[in-house]
Amino acid sequence: MRTPIIAGNWKMYKDINEALELTNSIKRDAYNVDNVGIVICPPATDLSDVGEMLMESNIDLGAQNCYWENEGAFTGEVSVPMIKSTGCKYVIIGHSERRKYFGETDETVNKKIKAAIDGGLIPIMCVGETLGQREAGKTIEVVKGQVTEGLKGFDENFLKDLVIAYEPVWAIGTGKTATPDQAQEVHAMIRTLLEKLFSKTFAEEKRVLYGGSVKPDNINVLMEEKDIDGGLIGGASLKSDSFTDIIKTTSELYRVKQEKN
Ligand code: 13P
Repeated sequence: MRTPIIAGNWKMYKDINEALELTNSIKRDAYNVDNVGIVICPPATDLSDVGEMLMESNIDLGAQNCYWENEGAFTGEVSVPMIKSTGCKYVIIGHSERRKYFGETDETVNKKIKAAIDGGLIPIMCVGETLGQREAGKTIEVVKGQVTEGLKGFDENFLKDLVIAYEPVWAIGTGKTATPDQAQEVHAMIRTLLEKLFSKTFAEEKRVLYGGSVKPDNINVLMEEKDIDGGLIGGASLKSDSFTDIIKTTSELYRVKQEKN
């Protein structure tokens, strides 16, 4: 069975003092939770100190972005070795906000995935359609393209730890969650595609998270879907009580699922 992951994407929120306060609360509130991988992804300026605070805890650290060169004259960018040196295990790649505001494409996503894995980080690759694309009936085509192009040229061994997050753009920060059926349809399609591109085992083992207005009161219906393996949480990860509620519900649901199997 796939152990779920709940990852918090703090986006551009929390200065260093706020970040340490939130981290401390999450650590306290989630210290005895098992059955679920917990990840927090603070802004780059917070990584080092938050990383130190997370040492020996059950919470992993992630960055929100990286550049694909290890060093050089790339003003404003942060490289994989730099991120790794702060204690990060994960890095989010290709979030729709990066695609929309910072010109990221499937090609840059592909380069960043290569750099991340080469440098020892686990990518959380984000895919998802806009409202216009959904309304035009293009959801499957768009997400298929993003997964195929983002993972082009890699073999399954290279991608063994990769995590994928399906985040419909119209559900991000809008309070509109995809219905469990809508999310499951895309998650199942991604798994079928992974089988076609790689292998059945690879597809069965790959964690595919859902993101887009996940809250304590909707995580349970989402997690009941067969192909949803956790969540990438924005707004609700900025407070310890809502984030740890989501984590605890996920852990409990996974325990029940394990008992049934
Ligand atoms: P919200 O949970 O705020 O909708 O954000 C989702 C997201 O973009 C996580 O990466």
